[in-house]
Amino acid sequence: MKVFHTVRGLRDDLNKDRRQGLRIGFVPTMGNLHDGHLALIKQARESNDVVVCSIFVNALQFGLNEDWDKYPRTYQGDCDKLREAGCDYLFHPDDIEMYPNGLDTQSRVICPTMTDVLCGASRPGHFEGVTTVVSKLFNIVQPDEAIFGIKDYQQLAVIRRMAEDLCMPIQISSAPIHREVDGLAMSSRNSYITVEERPLVTVLKDSLEWIAAEIKAGNRDFSALEETAKARIIEAGFKIDYITVCNSKTLDLAANDDVEITILGAMFTEAARLIDNLSITL
Ligand code: PAF
Repeated sequence: MKVFHTVRGLRDDLNKDRRQGLRIGFVPTMGNLHDGHLALIKQARESNDVVVCSIFVNALQFGLNEDWDKYPRTYQGDCDKLREAGCDYLFHPDDIEMYPNGLDTQSRVICPTMTDVLCGASRPGHFEGVTTVVSKLFNIVQPDEAIFGIKDYQQLAVIRRMAEDLCMPIQISSAPIHREVDGLAMSSRNSYITVEERPLVTVLKDSLEWIAAEIKAGNRDFSALEETAKARIIEAGFKIDYITVCNSKTLDLAANDDVEITILGAMFTEAARLIDNLSITL
């Protein structure tokens, strides 16, 4: 695996590959890689000739009181995992390389829908930071395909919409949620969960599954379902961010006659904010 810290270095190699007609797959990450990320790399490997991964902890998508400074940075271990998973190029820029003019005057990419609800409601500016950095990464790598995990369902929906609205010639693909044996969705932030909390955090996934089963059984009182699920999570000792039954495409609150439904949830442990989601077709 070749490692690049500059836009220019990566572009030089990718331009040669492109001239040879090779298809380029891209997996953007913030590092602290787990099996979920590696599954994205393997998926990219299957449908592309060249696989590029980026590791960049993007300050622009973190709020002032969020965990940018303590976000786990595990570069050497990540490199080993990427090599083993078959990644060809790693792009690992520093802040100056990505934002040479500084963050304050950086041009932004804004998606005006779906970004101020759910995670966007409790993390103002987060999705603007995501769409801006992903656009920059897309321009740097110019991939044929980019792959994102369904665990960040709202992020995936926003990026799809951005790519469509801005006519980006990139196939946006998704990969299933990777889970621990007990069902906890894999996340780089799971390392913030304490030993005492760990057996209890599956309440988030269990609550989403319970709502899905109720809906499939014909219950359409979505807000009552959300409230019952929230009470269950609070009872387990966690703070709720949201539990919401949505239309899978628009992320609007689900309507009674919606066929594609996604139930999304976020809760706080002592030091982590965990998210999960479940989609059903009726
Ligand atoms: O999902 C992530 O890890 C990040 O939001 C992404 C897409 C790499 C942008 O910084």
